[in-house]
Amino acid sequence: MPLVSMRQLLDEAAKGGYGVGAFNVNDMEQIQAIMAAAKETKSPVIVQASRGARAFAEDLYLFKLIQAAAELNPEIPIAMHQDHGNSFETCKSAIELGYTSVMMDGSLKADGKTPASFEENVEVTRRAVDFAHERGVTVEGEIGVLGGIEDGHGAGGSGLEHVTDPDQAVEFAELTGVDALAIAIGTSHGAYKFTKKPDGSVLKMDILLAIHKRLPNTHLVMHGSSSVPKDLQDVVNKYGGKLKETWGVPVEEIQLGIRNGVRKINVDTDNRLAMTGAIRKVLWETPEKFDPRDYMKPAREAMQKVVAQRMTQFGQAGHAGDYKALPIAEIAKGYANGSLITKPLVAAK
Ligand code: 13P
Repeated sequence: MPLVSMRQLLDEAAKGGYGVGAFNVNDMEQIQAIMAAAKETKSPVIVQASRGARAFAEDLYLFKLIQAAAELNPEIPIAMHQDHGNSFETCKSAIELGYTSVMMDGSLKADGKTPASFEENVEVTRRAVDFAHERGVTVEGEIGVLGGIEDGHGAGGSGLEHVTDPDQAVEFAELTGVDALAIAIGTSHGAYKFTKKPDGSVLKMDILLAIHKRLPNTHLVMHGSSSVPKDLQDVVNKYGGKLKETWGVPVEEIQLGIRNGVRKINVDTDNRLAMTGAIRKVLWETPEKFDPRDYMKPAREAMQKVVAQRMTQFGQAGHAGDYKALPIAEIAKGYANGSLITKPLVAAK
């Protein structure tokens, strides 16, 4: 199957009432792990690359790997997404490479660190939407600012510093015409999200519910949604790692989100932990080994296990065969003739 428009994939998820995991990739083994999990669970999937990943792997290597994944798995709908594009140019270059979706993260200035004004965010996001939709490409925007830093991108600090204002979310969706909306509800990127199991004082699911109530048809995105399970932390620490005690986003909170408009769930840290734990185990137990395949194979399997588990928990499992990818040119026509609605339905307060 050719790469799928993320908009199509999310519209289908909304119809089916499930969420879709968006898993970060940097290399071949991670792409293989995701595809093996998607095949095992019969799931549509979003594969995403940050700017850091594109720089690490080089654009062409990474994109050709995704094309190989699509060619080898014709039964699986795959959307290829730019995670946290910091500028119009970053999004444009991803679109020109063949990505079917981009995140224009205008919540931060182009330095990827300083929070931007609402007006700046609207302006750059709208510009990305106009360029992308003309080419049939999906756009995710962000309103409010996530906590933490991922691959050098992020305002840092706690996820509670710039929580999304529901009224602004409505205005932002109306002014930009984004296909998917990332909101800040107290989560942050990386392993250190919460110092204890999060409750409503730090994980603001009430804000998510309020936004969904006002924007019932808008696809919401949860970033920073690794669950950072203790068993994965324990493996890393058992074999020489030094992770401090930490908590992520409980899966049941994500499932509550999915029942309330969340269609895309970003997961990176859990896979990093799974791979690192598996690699540490091999090197700790058999220090005489030096063939990278001896530790990359278990690392790939450990990531596959986590991804397959999330696919089942998010509800995307079993949905790979529900639909065929519409050509991206058809999607572009849909944006042009208004059949793909971008004006959000806004409900009264
Ligand atoms: P985690 O660090 O929680 O996996 O979040 C990843 C993410 O949101 C990528 O944009």
